[in-house]
Amino acid sequence: MPHPHIDELLEKNRVWSAETKSRDPDFFARLSKQQTPKYLWIGCADSRVPASQVVGMDPGHLFVHRNIANVVVHSDVNCLSVIQYAVEVLKVEHVVVCGHYGCGGVKAALDKPELGLIEHWLRHIEDVAHRHADRLNNVNEPETRCDRLCELNVIEQVMNLARTTTVRTAWQRGQTLVLHGLIYGLKDGLLRDLGLDLAGPDDAAQSYDRVLKRLPTD
Ligand code: CO
Repeated sequence: MPHPHIDELLEKNRVWSAETKSRDPDFFARLSKQQTPKYLWIGCADSRVPASQVVGMDPGHLFVHRNIANVVVHSDVNCLSVIQYAVEVLKVEHVVVCGHYGCGGVKAALDKPELGLIEHWLRHIEDVAHRHADRLNNVNEPETRCDRLCELNVIEQVMNLARTTTVRTAWQRGQTLVLHGLIYGLKDGLLRDLGLDLAGPDDAAQSYDRVLKRLPTD
């Protein structure tokens, strides 16, 4: 017998499908033939930051990869495969790393509770915190310190993205590809642009210090 919670999903899906079709009768037929998203979105798995919804876009516009605390790790074959497919096959023009304030993964990297397996994943964020220890130690209020690390984490992950083989070779070929760092506010539903717009290797080298200088220091 179906579980009532799954029934809820199925029922909401039927309503959504019917509403979408009534707005645009060809919507699914059109979308089923091909996807041509302009954006790759790398975001946090947090249920409160659903990629397409927070930018008000219908299915078909964002290619999405989400993991805990929106991390781009050089040995993560899953994330790297998504990036390669998005850039080389779908030819997205923008890659957005989107963090969010109040991120539980970032908070755990600061507080270090016992979490088992996931502690290994969070170590990537601890590395970011370690790299920026001086800056973070200046921030007394724990929630603010977490938010500052959320911003720094996005910046570091955009830099990691710029160093991937896929992005470097795309730039070498002259493919249009711009990397961006955004951060989402759970409290107001708004995205903020951290000011990284990396369109090539020179941008990557120059933007890092400039963007760090612009961040609040307390
Ligand atoms: Co999060």
